[in-house]
Amino acid sequence: MTLRDLLIQAAYLAASVFFILGLRSLSHPDKARRGMNQAAVGMLLAIVGTLANQGIVTYQWIIVGLVVGTLIGIPLGTKVPMTAMPQQIAISHGFGALAATLVGVNEWVVHGFGAGIGRGTMTALGFETLFGALTVTGSLMAFGKLQELLPGKPVTWPLQNATSMGLLAATLGLFGWLIVNPANPLAFWGMLGLALLIGVLLVLPIGGADMPVVVSLLNSYAGLAAAATGFAIGNNVLIIAGALNGASGLLLSILMSKAMNRSFGNVIFGAFGGETAAPAAASATGLTVRSISPEDAAVQLAYASRVIVVPGYGLAVAQAQHVVQELAEQIEKRGGEVKYAIHPVAGRMPGHMNVLLAEANVPYDKLLDMEEINPQFDQCDVALVVGANDVVNPAARTDPASPIYGMPILNVDRAHSVIVLKRSMNTGFAGIENALFYEPKTAMLFGDAKASLTRLVNEVKAV
Ligand code: TAP
Repeated sequence: MTLRDLLIQAAYLAASVFFILGLRSLSHPDKARRGMNQAAVGMLLAIVGTLANQGIVTYQWIIVGLVVGTLIGIPLGTKVPMTAMPQQIAISHGFGALAATLVGVNEWVVHGFGAGIGRGTMTALGFETLFGALTVTGSLMAFGKLQELLPGKPVTWPLQNATSMGLLAATLGLFGWLIVNPANPLAFWGMLGLALLIGVLLVLPIGGADMPVVVSLLNSYAGLAAAATGFAIGNNVLIIAGALNGASGLLLSILMSKAMNRSFGNVIFGAFGGETAAPAAASATGLTVRSISPEDAAVQLAYASRVIVVPGYGLAVAQAQHVVQELAEQIEKRGGEVKYAIHPVAGRMPGHMNVLLAEANVPYDKLLDMEEINPQFDQCDVALVVGANDVVNPAARTDPASPIYGMPILNVDRAHSVIVLKRSMNTGFAGIENALFYEPKTAMLFGDAKASLTRLVNEVKAV
């Protein structure tokens, strides 16, 4: 091993350590920013190590790639709004998977169309190409659904699961054939084509509501494809980073499914989400909602000793994170205590509320997870629900017929009083009515959350 090789391996090892440290830091909001920086340093080391590779013939195209990537990456990172993050992540995974697929195709082509490839390497290459390809089209479909370029509703057809399973079996068959005989263009191109088709067919029947779980799962596939690439081209950092990516993506998908009370299989095969479920009984039974003026709501908040803010997707849409923090400051100035209740799937992506509130410098110790905050609602004077709906729907606890029955929710209905900030009586993501809004202790403050909160800040100041 030359000194250069040694340095490259040392850079890869250091990169892997930074990736692991980054993932560890990302497990808590107060260290998340540090985690991102650690991961970025890891990526820089991995890139520098790769650029030092002696096998590089010319840097010309690498530089072009770096410049184009930077030109696309900077606006993506700075301009894309938080609410569009899920689709941005989807398309980024698509790019990663495309890179893995192209490396797979290239390796197979340059080695005499498979003639110069042993069975072990072909296994890694085939795996990379197969998983890479289905992740490319799957991610594009997820992007299309999230960006509303494609119908968010599950698109189903007769014998849908059977067709997909049949195609998957055929693809795996071609993969097996390729391992036995790597110099087999029919098997290689056939497997590639079918994998691209499977990516489309796998995501089409899944509703927009479940896209974040799908994106996380595709992330896991892209990681596995990258790990296989590492085996195929003998690159250690790709193996480690790919395995980390694969494992964390899978764990995240499982955790998200659990928090939505959906089995993993139900997400993948259930054709759920994006459908408009039948309205629940509340409005049908003639119950009415009580609306409240900003002045009255402000008086309630100003004299409350314990307030729990429950943020949801509407907070992200309204970009109301700064003004909600301002309101909390006003309440605290008057001697009240304010905490934030964070549901694991509030918003549209994992950690959505944490990221938003961190942006507004809400102290991390005020952000309490569901398990921690739920027992505190009994002693809470006012629960202030800001653009949340499904995550506070008591039907999840009480109505076995509800599509969200069994999903753990924030026990907002146990607070002494509830003020809900939303624009209308529209449903949330699950498309179902919320009996909380009809309870006598609940008052609705209709309007855009940011505008309502701004009014509340001014009114509390004036009390
Ligand atoms: P939702 O149930 O989606 O409800 C959000 C509410 O915000 C809506 O009812 C909407 O009512 C209101 N809203 C929208 N824009 C607003 C604005 N500008 N000002 C005020 N209110 C506004 O949100 P949630 O309670 O956060 O629940 C999240 C849902 O997404 C769950 O069903 C969850 O399972 C699903 N989901 C989450 C994830 C992750 S990882 N977070 C992943 C997949 C699915 P109006 O239109 O009347 O204003």
